Amino acid sequence: MKGVILAGGLATRLRPLTWVTNKHLLPVYNKPMIYYPIESLVKAGIKEVLISCSPDHAGQFTNLLKGGAEFGVKFYYSVQENPKAGIANAIGGAKEFAGDEKIAVILGDNIFNYNLKPTVEKFKKREKGAVVFGIRMPGMESKHYGVIEIDSAGKVISIEEKPEKPKSNIAQTGVYFYDNRVFDFVAKLKPSDRGELEVTDLNNVYLKEGTLECDLLDWWIDAGTSHDELLKANNLVAEKIQAGKL
Ligand code: DAU
Repeated sequence: MKGVILAGGLATRLRPLTWVTNKHLLPVYNKPMIYYPIESLVKAGIKEVLISCSPDHAGQFTNLLKGGAEFGVKFYYSVQENPKAGIANAIGGAKEFAGDEKIAVILGDNIFNYNLKPTVEKFKKREKGAVVFGIRMPGMESKHYGVIEIDSAGKVISIEEKPEKPKSNIAQTGVYFYDNRVFDFVAKLKPSDRGELEVTDLNNVYLKEGTLECDLLDWWIDAGTSHDELLKANNLVAEKIQAGKL
């Protein structure tokens, strides 16, 4: 299984911090933001990782991350020509890199400490399907997230992108596992009202097929949504590191 980190987008919500520096390279406590998703993939035992970036900032990533020796993995880089074409569009860009393998995708601004390894090992044995990772967020502002509804046995019933009236308190995080058919499914998606190929539409293809599973993370933060969330991420990560929990 190969890893993919999505670090495109324009990060307009974090300007002026992101005019020159790519969002995923901003500091979160003692490391650049993208180190956290990279370390999550490394901990999961993944050895080859594609970094998908926007045209303007691609060089910054290679300057910082180089070949991957520091992390014990091999990095590959790709440029998403239109950095706002959507998460599913960026996933589609990993087709050649993936070859025949399954992929584990993490959004470059997602920070968590859940050990993905057991789910990776289980997923490798599955013939087909996908896994979406959720987080319980009582009182969440659902206009910022995909929302996952599950039944009492943990089976996914629905996923809606940024709904006005959320059907549950489980937010869809930016961690997804896909089988190799994902690239055919992406090719068939249509842009949403905001003009993006949505990851929620992609996950709904697997949901309809009955092959989508959901795992829940224990804590998680999307550091890239606003200045306040970035500040919160810095404080939370400092706390977790000092407590030996990250
Ligand atoms: O963070 C979790 C949320 O991420 C989920 O709950 C939503 O279902 C999902 O759609 C997504 O929502 P956002 O609106 O927060 O996504 P955003 O546009 O902020 O992009 C998240 C990351 O994905 C960002 O770090 C850069 C990368 N990205 C995004 C787009 C649109 C790309 O690499 N390429 C893109 O075209």
